[in-house]
Amino acid sequence: MTLLIKNGTIVTVSESFQADIAVKDGVISAIGQNLDIKADKVVDASGKLVLPGAIDAHTHLAMPFGGTQSADGYLAGTRAAACGGVTTVFDYPMQRKGKGILETIRERKAMCDPEACVDYAFHCIITDLNDNTILDEFQAAVDEGITSFKCFLVYKKEGMMVDDGTLVKILLKAKEVGALTNIHAENPDLIDMNIEKFLKEGKTSAWYHYLSRPEFVEAEADKRAVHWAKSVDAPLYIVHMADKEGLEAAAEAKRQGHKIFIETCPQYLEFTSDVYKREDGRNFVCSPPMKGEESKEALWKAIQNGDIDTVATDHCPFQSYEKDWGKDDFTKIPNGCAGVENLYPYMLSAANEGKISFNRAVELCAANPAKIFGCESKGSLAVGKDGDIVIYDPDLDFTITTEAMHSDYDHTIWEGITVHGYPVQTFVRGRLVYDQGEFVGEPGYGNFIKRIPNQV
Ligand code: URP
Ligand code: ZN
Ligand code: ZN
Repeated sequence: MTLLIKNGTIVTVSESFQADIAVKDGVISAIGQNLDIKADKVVDASGKLVLPGAIDAHTHLAMPFGGTQSADGYLAGTRAAACGGVTTVFDYPMQRKGKGILETIRERKAMCDPEACVDYAFHCIITDLNDNTILDEFQAAVDEGITSFKCFLVYKKEGMMVDDGTLVKILLKAKEVGALTNIHAENPDLIDMNIEKFLKEGKTSAWYHYLSRPEFVEAEADKRAVHWAKSVDAPLYIVHMADKEGLEAAAEAKRQGHKIFIETCPQYLEFTSDVYKREDGRNFVCSPPMKGEESKEALWKAIQNGDIDTVATDHCPFQSYEKDWGKDDFTKIPNGCAGVENLYPYMLSAANEGKISFNRAVELCAANPAKIFGCESKGSLAVGKDGDIVIYDPDLDFTITTEAMHSDYDHTIWEGITVHGYPVQTFVRGRLVYDQGEFVGEPGYGNFIKRIPNQV
């Protein structure tokens, strides 16, 4: 099967140029002017941008959390991904006390395989070392293509937090096997202290979700994680960076030559903590929470100057009735928001408005996650890479509504936001999965992506 996309403007990290692109049997086989190739399917991309499919390196599909599980399973989450130009998702299976890594991964793979509409990879969350025996499984996990592990420095009462000793053991072991440690950084003791105080005072609205974990609570943990990573000379990837002080500390360590990688999410670039004052503030509850204007500006600056490496979504939506559990008590709101379908349109819209270049949007959303996480066949448009391609119309404005999305959730924090430019077609390994507003893919088409170690 050969696909030929003609007359588009191809966007890579370093250049944009007019060319045709051909995909044969799922792999990019040629890029050039006026390609004279016999194809089964020819697409005219005149006036459009031709981009690598995005990689959302941070999703929580069917994730158990807060007494329920996230509203998008593997089918709905990857269907939505396809419709937003995301051709690979990285999900976060969670190892639990008494369970092994391989057991956890294989269970999730069995769930995901028949449902995945786009390609997928896994990072594994480690919550308990099972008397250190888990560390002996790291090499086997890497051999199966799982080359990144994650630690929560929060969610103590949920039994998901690891202490500093455990974190350092994980950093060292991950380094030894050529893997990367991802970290969710917030200080749990400060959060618990604040929560206790606010509940005693009857301060229960969503605003107190923010006030219980403000800027300095995240910054302390960012700095602590960076400190340990530097001290043992291990690579570190900080997920969903949301505060200025932590960002600056991580960026400084990066400038000193340490292997520190920084991810942020569109919600931290678009909203501030003011959303928690809204009547529907609980719908915006995620951890870490959105911060003040100063942090938002610092994140944009770091997007522009290269300090931030990736933008991913932390896609973890819950239904309205579940968010409503915390109407009168913010601690009962399941943490997480939707985003997988909005990632690429949002960052490309920023490019369309001149905030960043299209090349930088491609770097943040496709090339860098592929490079950092060892997906050698993904993330760029070049001969030999997978035919993961998005055709993007820079003139098509789009207003986000829940109805127009392709998830299973019943509300979105992105409701009513207009993006300038929108994907019109998405191809995964040369197969059309999204076409002008419609999902046209197939559950089970998505492949597990086995990653290679020692990439950073
Ligand atoms: O609120 C969030 N982010 N929920 C998902 C789990 C996590 O912390 O990433
Ligand atoms: Zn997190
Ligand atoms: Zn997350």
